Amino acid sequence: MIFESHAHYDDDAFDADREELLASLAEHGIGTVINIGASLAGSEATVKLCEQYPFVYGAVGVHPSEVQELTQEGLAHLRGLCSHEKVVAVGEIGLDYHYPEPSVPVQKEWFERQLELAREVKLPVIIHSREAAKDTLDIMQVHCAGEIGGVVHCFSYAKEMAREYLNMDYYFGIGGVITFKNAKKLKEAVQYIPMDRILLETDSPYLSPEPHRGGRNSSLNLPYVAKEIAELKGISYEEVVECTERNAKRLFGLER
Ligand code: NI
Repeated sequence: MIFESHAHYDDDAFDADREELLASLAEHGIGTVINIGASLAGSEATVKLCEQYPFVYGAVGVHPSEVQELTQEGLAHLRGLCSHEKVVAVGEIGLDYHYPEPSVPVQKEWFERQLELAREVKLPVIIHSREAAKDTLDIMQVHCAGEIGGVVHCFSYAKEMAREYLNMDYYFGIGGVITFKNAKKLKEAVQYIPMDRILLETDSPYLSPEPHRGGRNSSLNLPYVAKEIAELKGISYEEVVECTERNAKRLFGLER
C-alpha cells in the first residue's frame, strides 16, 4: 500500500473533515502515514494523532520558520516526546531562507541542536531545506548526519546536490512538485536518484500535484506523484508504490 511519508494532518486546514478523511485513506490504498510536527504544538498534536489512529506514526520537531519559539525547556519537551513508541523521527528541522525571519544564526543554532537531539535519541531526521542548499549540507556534514540517517523532504535541488545526500545514504521525499511542468531539474534528479532511496510524500495541506495544483492537498493525491515517478523511471506504478513503501519502512524502523 502507499506509504505517505510527510503530512501535516494536525493543520487547521483539516479541522472540518479530519476524521472522515483519515478514515477514508485505507480504502484508497494509503496504508501508513507519518504526521510531521512543525512546531511544539504541532508535535504535541502529532502524538495525539498517533494515539488515535493505528496507521499514523509521528515525527516531532520544530520547522526552521518556527524556531524562535524554541528554548532549552522546549527542546527538553521534544526529547520527552521522542520516547513515545510511535514517534519514529525528529522533524521537520532544517533551514529556510525564503523569509528573512528567523535570522540565519537562530535557524542554524536550532537546526544543529535538533540534529544532536536526533543522534541522542537514535531517530532519523526529516530535513526541510529551502533556498539554503549549501548551509544545510555544511551543517549536516559537520554533524556527521550520515550516521543519524534521514530524508530530505520535498527535495527540490538538482542532481549535483542529490549526489551529496546519496553519499550520506539519505532518502529523498518526492511530492506534488514532480508533476509540475516547470520542474525540469527535479525530474532529472529523480531519474538520477536510485529507486531504493525515494519516498512518497505530500506535505499536505500544501503542494498539491497537477491536476489539483493550488487546492488543499491530502494523501489521496499520492497516486499522481507515484504515476509521474513511474513514468520518469520507466517502471510500473505498482513497483513505485511497493518500493517506496519498503524504503519508508526501512528508514523509520517499521519493518516486521
Ligand atoms: Ni512539511
